[in-house]
Amino acid sequence: MDYETVALDEKRPAVVILDQTQLPGRAELLYLTQAREIWEAIYLLKVRGAPAIGVAAALGMYVLAAQSKAEEYALFLKEFQEQKAYLDSARPTAVNLSWALKRMEQVVLDHAGQSPAKIREFLKQEALAIREEDIRVCRAIGEYGLSLVKPGDGILTHCNAGRLAAVRYGTATAPIYLGQERGYHFRVFADETRPLLQGARLTAYELHQAGVDVTLICDNMSGTVMKNGWVNAVFVGCDRVAQNGDVANKIGTMVVATLAKHYHVPFYVCAPTATIDMSAPSGEQICIEQRPAREVTQMWYREPMAPEGVKVFNPAFDVTDHSLITGIVTEYGVARPPYDQAFQKIFEKKAAGRTGNAL
Ligand code: MRU
Repeated sequence: MDYETVALDEKRPAVVILDQTQLPGRAELLYLTQAREIWEAIYLLKVRGAPAIGVAAALGMYVLAAQSKAEEYALFLKEFQEQKAYLDSARPTAVNLSWALKRMEQVVLDHAGQSPAKIREFLKQEALAIREEDIRVCRAIGEYGLSLVKPGDGILTHCNAGRLAAVRYGTATAPIYLGQERGYHFRVFADETRPLLQGARLTAYELHQAGVDVTLICDNMSGTVMKNGWVNAVFVGCDRVAQNGDVANKIGTMVVATLAKHYHVPFYVCAPTATIDMSAPSGEQICIEQRPAREVTQMWYREPMAPEGVKVFNPAFDVTDHSLITGIVTEYGVARPPYDQAFQKIFEKKAAGRTGNAL
């Protein structure tokens, strides 16, 4: 496990990503220096997963700012804001993207009137801080998540909320990796996750590489493994959490949550506080990304798997109602219903700079 999902090459400078569209067959690094390249890498899911997208965008803004020829603040700010808006348009659902971009913009605004050369240095520090924070946050989520399960448990996960979706540990996989370090011997079931197969190509790949006992299942098998009694808990990641605890995550998540409720399996969502959007009262306000039809009909297959011209519905995410969620695991503790109140407390802890115990 010697790869970095997303990093900065300080010399060029460039955003370095592991091209996730090539996995599991090939581990290829890409060096991104142009706005168009960074935008495409995010849109085409070469770098994907809410935290990783945020980190890539933050590093990207530094890389672009480093190339700016602007010598005056006003022009530097104008260019910066245009590029920020452009990167922000790559994908709409994961709030980490706009969250990270806003943090970078704030650096520029906080140093109004200063020279672009100086501001570039601050931007670099902020982008690297966002990256480092992701590692700490995921590890803390792992600790809280681990407190919810016991050695030998069966854990089901959907999509990839693993280290490939973040910088290290991942969110939903963080308890699994920490458990692995401590000899918990979890049995993990990874949904393949149609249509882009993040579960098969990425989760099964990274867990298998790490020596975790992982079994790949098709999406329509999760009911069977739960009915068989093989699953003690579900852990998933998320792209945006609304104030009431509704959660947008990879399409199919709400099906898993509904099954989990039916079979009395606890359903946990792992969410860095950066993914909680208190400006969205409920899931209804979350914009769901629609993706091209070809991802369903032919991508990953040698030949088209559907009749030419057939209508296709391809939302990338769905919203799981808060009533189906047992707990939301953040780096400041496990939020339990009612979620709006639990989030208030979590943000108070965050503001006070404490890690604290699970709520
Ligand atoms: O379309 P993707 O692959 O970016 O979707 C990713 C997910 O839905 C993940 O579960 C989510 O971003 C959380 S990643 C820690």
